[in-house]
Amino acid sequence: SKRVGFVGWRGMVGSVLMERMRAENDFQDIEPVFFTTSQVGQAGPDVGKDIPALKDATAIDELKTLDVIVTCQGGDYTNEVYPKLRAAGWNGHWIDAASALRMNDDAVIVLDPVNRRVIDEALHKGVKDFVGGNCTVSLMLMAVGGLFNAGLVEWASAQTYQAASGAGAQNMRELLAQMGKLHADVAELLADPRSAILDIDRVVADTMRGDALPKDNFGHALAGSLLPWIDRQLDNGQSREEWKAQAETNKILGSSSNPVPLDGTCVRIGAMRSHSQALTLKLTRDVPLDEISDIIAGANDWVKVIPNEREQTLRELTPTAVTGTLAIPVGRLRKLNMGPQYLNAFTVGDQLLWGAAEPLRRMLRILLE
Ligand code: HSE
Repeated sequence: SKRVGFVGWRGMVGSVLMERMRAENDFQDIEPVFFTTSQVGQAGPDVGKDIPALKDATAIDELKTLDVIVTCQGGDYTNEVYPKLRAAGWNGHWIDAASALRMNDDAVIVLDPVNRRVIDEALHKGVKDFVGGNCTVSLMLMAVGGLFNAGLVEWASAQTYQAASGAGAQNMRELLAQMGKLHADVAELLADPRSAILDIDRVVADTMRGDALPKDNFGHALAGSLLPWIDRQLDNGQSREEWKAQAETNKILGSSSNPVPLDGTCVRIGAMRSHSQALTLKLTRDVPLDEISDIIAGANDWVKVIPNEREQTLRELTPTAVTGTLAIPVGRLRKLNMGPQYLNAFTVGDQLLWGAAEPLRRMLRILLE
């Protein structure tokens, strides 16, 4: 069986990956070797079989013995270790959660329920680098990839509602700490049913603007507010997160030479780990809604069309409903006032599952086929 090395398995995405691999018995079919940047020689995780003690994640000689490396360690690790490993002649498969190699010509962005054909062609050509996509892009394509693959999308615009987890584990903690602080500062007023709501609101606004709110990670108040900028600022006015939508979608679909335009505004909101997106899609032709619905629903085993009705939407099309699951609900499907080729859609997906860990473990399975 293949020797598969794991790096960064203790972090948030790595932990979700370990959970999923245990749940799917993935470790039974491989010889797992666990690496560490700080705890060489200690015991590795429980994966239901004997494994060697933790090895040094920067030891090129150790890494060279592997058939496959799966890393969730982050882009700095990839930038440091990957070039040395290839320079040392290593010819194995590299599966990476970080964006460092994502846009390389000889790397494929993996999302097999959407681009299995692109993955198979790459494997056939001897491609060795397989990188998970940006979470927002992957979740959007898990939701409406059927329309893209049917050639029905002329352009698309996504307005996102992105969860704290996309910024990191510390940010999830900070969101809750902010919520707690806001509540604590008005707890007494809240307990008094005769207190004035505008007094409560004034205290909350003061706390959000003040220095007592914990904000080392976000730098600003997220609880009770939102942050309409994610990732770095680019020269063209986009955030880097917004730039990824068109670049990565077309790379995933293999259409980079004739790209479908995508653009929109990416916004951080106070959800924990599920990203939501409001989509406007300009269709290449007027397709009836029931056909659209069938194409979306038939595209993979996880997408589910939620009828555009109030109660079911509020029950099933929210971060609360989706978090911790592989479900990809798509709803609010209707034609917009702009005309019969303009489709509205709303989708939600767990940012750590289909947005990060799941495509990686599935890519590993594809290598074992
Ligand atoms: N960049 C994403 C976010 C997460 O900040 O939500 C990683 O894909």
